[in-house]
Amino acid sequence: MEENVSKVCQEMVQMPRIGDPAPAFKAVTTQGEISFPEQYRGSWVILFSHPADFTPVCTSEFMTFATLENEFAALNCKLVGLSVDGLYSHIAWLRTIKEKIQYRGMSNVEVKFPLIEDITMSVAKRYGMIQPGESSTKAVRAVFVIDPKGIIRTIVYYPLSLGRNFDELLRIVQALKTADEFAVATPADWRPGDDVIVPTAGSCGVAKERMENKESDVTCYDWFFCTKKIDQAKVLETIRK
Ligand code: BEZ
Repeated sequence: MEENVSKVCQEMVQMPRIGDPAPAFKAVTTQGEISFPEQYRGSWVILFSHPADFTPVCTSEFMTFATLENEFAALNCKLVGLSVDGLYSHIAWLRTIKEKIQYRGMSNVEVKFPLIEDITMSVAKRYGMIQPGESSTKAVRAVFVIDPKGIIRTIVYYPLSLGRNFDELLRIVQALKTADEFAVATPADWRPGDDVIVPTAGSCGVAKERMENKESDVTCYDWFFCTKKIDQAKVLETIRK
């Protein structure tokens, strides 16, 4: 018992966090072997796990990911999936999706991004995708958004029964890229074209100037909470590369 607890704790301590380098691994996928994250340097990447092949929620998610792959690619963001099923199960499932499943206007959907086989759960455990309170044999629906330098920038976990919100996954990549490119933060429910948050005043002088409305493009709700407009077209042009 004690041994089990200490093993679980050890694995938990190793779970990657936002700001950590993405743990490296080599894996067999439906698109051949990959070295992660080395071969993705220079691109954003979403590494996500799903519980099992041939299950309905996962099927709806894979069809949606595949349908949105070009939208992610336009943001220089690649997709990599993982489950603890084997390669032949993955291949059979992806063939079934393409050949047989019609769902919410999607049909003949080809999943072109790699799907990792992780029968030993070594990658899933390393990334904290196995959460024994939910399931000790299936990965939860984890999403790791990793930047072009291989740093984890966002982590989202969903339970087995809850399909992911793909608008939100796109919004996360858009917002992270906007924050990086324009040195701003993004407020609640931000979308490209909405006002962004400028860095909080770092001196009494700047705080005073902002409150006196001296920076013409900045609107302040109080000295620590100021926003500015960035044209939607400019944001989209900047983040789509
Ligand atoms: C599903 O994808 O439908 C699913 C997978 C595992 C548990 C529950 C649902």
